Amino acid sequence: MVNIDDIPIQYLPTLIKAMPKAELHIHIEGSLEPELIFQLARRNGIALPYSNVGDLRAAYAFSDLQSFLDVYYACASVLQQEQDFYDMAWSYLTRAAAEHVVHAEIFFDPQTHTQRGVAMGAIVFGLSRACQDAHERLGVDAQLILCFLRHLSEESAMETLEQALPFREHFIGVGLDSSELGNPPEKFAKVFARCKAFGLHRVAHAGEEGPSSYVSKALDILEVERIDHGVNAIHDPDLMKRLVRERIPITVCPLSNVKLRVFPSLDAHNLVQMLNMGVCVTLNSDDPAYFGGYINDNYLQTVETLKLSSRQVFVLARNSFEASFVSAKQREIWLKDLEYCFENFRPETESKS
Ligand code: ADE
Ligand code: ZN
Repeated sequence: MVNIDDIPIQYLPTLIKAMPKAELHIHIEGSLEPELIFQLARRNGIALPYSNVGDLRAAYAFSDLQSFLDVYYACASVLQQEQDFYDMAWSYLTRAAAEHVVHAEIFFDPQTHTQRGVAMGAIVFGLSRACQDAHERLGVDAQLILCFLRHLSEESAMETLEQALPFREHFIGVGLDSSELGNPPEKFAKVFARCKAFGLHRVAHAGEEGPSSYVSKALDILEVERIDHGVNAIHDPDLMKRLVRERIPITVCPLSNVKLRVFPSLDAHNLVQMLNMGVCVTLNSDDPAYFGGYINDNYLQTVETLKLSSRQVFVLARNSFEASFVSAKQREIWLKDLEYCFENFRPETESKS
């Protein structure tokens, strides 16, 4: 049996690709690859402000969160029919399966689409059907989390919740995303309280560009169970102690943080500091089509740049299951699979496959 602490770093890339993992922070609209964007634009007769895939990719030079969101919302306009939502999700899920993601909790932004006249049912049924097919055909467990856009009003979020309630069995929780600065958690206090009453899980983006106080408020006012990004929590020592004490997970997205200039470079990222302090850090891709990598790229580049050990890689993957909204029984099964993968790792056989 292999000791998890003794796996040489040259074998970590093979191990990272092979290990079972959960992805907990992925915006499905952020998985739309340029090729699929153009395919859907043609299918639906939509004119894009970019003449080809190359032009579009050239627009992926972001200066901050807002500069990204402007492109992301423009590209989401190609999604019109239920089948478009299915195709987008299926494309992500086949990729996730190939990267040994066994469980994904997938964000979707209904307001981006309902504002353009797309029916809530078309969005939810398209995504949900892809999740069901992924379970049956790819062995990936995928669940949906409905996100409210924080640059819109709380009334709009409340209306969106009402529109979604007839499809309640198709999503496990709610989140909060989009432009963070100037849109603090308390703006959504009532709608999150209503979501809690419906037994929905609650998460929120906080401390990505916003201050550490947004993380505290997301916990205190929105009563979220996980924080998305959360990297600015580091500026508040008491909050850091709380994250550790209450074992509140944060879903970190290193490649996203570099692309959106939350950190000037990957080697300046604080995730190792957070890990070493005992925070339940998970690794995720956020918007992989826009940020240059899916989940394994996030692991691979982070491990290489920040010189993570085999134990730290194991802990990150273990945290992904611990932080997920799955049953205790299912969590145990995946944790055992993860341990088995590390303890029985044989580089010679693995690297040939
Ligand atoms: N929507 C998609 N990606 C996002 C991010 N990184 N932050 C906030 N909202 C988002
Ligand atoms: Zn995000």
